[in-house]
Amino acid sequence: MDLPAKRAVITGAARGIGRAVARLFAAEGWGVVVSDVDADALDELAVELERQKARYAAVVADVADVAQVHRLFAEAEKALGDINVLVNCAGMRLITDLLSVTEEQWDRVMDVNVKGTFFSMQAVVPTMRRAGGGKIVNLGSVSGIVGVANRAPYCAAKAAVDGLTRQAAVELAASNIQVVAVAPGYTAETEMTAMYDDEVIEAMRATLPLGTDRHHPKDVAETVLFLASDRTRAISGTTVVVDNALTTSLLPDAWPWHITPELQPLDRTSGTDQR
Ligand SMILES: NC(=O)c1ccc[n+]([C@@H]2O[C@H](COP(=O)([O-])OP(=O)(O)OC[C@H]3O[C@@H](n4cnc5c(N)ncnc54)[C@H](O)[C@@H]3O)[C@@H](O)[C@H]2O)c1
Repeated sequence: MDLPAKRAVITGAARGIGRAVARLFAAEGWGVVVSDVDADALDELAVELERQKARYAAVVADVADVAQVHRLFAEAEKALGDINVLVNCAGMRLITDLLSVTEEQWDRVMDVNVKGTFFSMQAVVPTMRRAGGGKIVNLGSVSGIVGVANRAPYCAAKAAVDGLTRQAAVELAASNIQVVAVAPGYTAETEMTAMYDDEVIEAMRATLPLGTDRHHPKDVAETVLFLASDRTRAISGTTVVVDNALTTSLLPDAWPWHITPELQPLDRTSGTDQR
């Protein structure tokens, strides 16, 4: 069988945005190596890809462990040949007020989101060079662009993902490797947003200037597909925000559900700080 022209590794592929990316790439006829730390959820995705008659391999790996990252890319190359697309979707969030964050929590959020993204990029470069170049898409977040209460390590980690993206884009340009980040806003049907109840979800949806139905994993995945495709010859080192215009809208109570009493924003009616 001829190898597909695009041979992609997707981390954090078993759920949410990563899963939508895997489905979409496979539907395009791309070869996909799907990876996740959750073996059971990855098995479910494998059944789906099997049904799709995709050319794929599934590899269980924790991106926070560099040895497992190296094993992932060795297995990916064995399965598909040289890899020319990497999508770093593996990520985790912690919702805790700034004063309660423990060292262990800080380290885990940084290890999964930042260290995992960095060492996956490092591991893919040799195979991508052999392929003649490629595209790396890192999942950032609007939390890396604006401050969000009760998410200190997550905001720091996602800002770091943007920084890594800019740096790698410059250093890897000579190898014909383009590096971009995608920063989703609130995205429904993911584990990360599953804990919100209907009232909170309605409050969130109501704040989205573009409307209430463009916040699904597929909406993010379509952007990832575009950025990983050959249609983006000149885009590198930038972050594409997919948030229905939320972060540009300056809504004072845009994300009201997470604000704790100690962290009330300015009282905008009186113009005084009530804290
Ligand atoms: N859902 C949102 O609203 C939202 C918003 C902004 C950014 N993001 C980012 O998008 C990416 C995908 O998130 P999602 O919403 O699909 O979340 P999700 O929780 O539904 O899926 C994340 C996947 O990553 C896997 N994963 C977690 N830790 C891992 C590790 N150490 N090694 C390998 N796999 C690991 C999980 O098992 C899961 O399958 C993340 O980087 C997240 O930070 C999500």
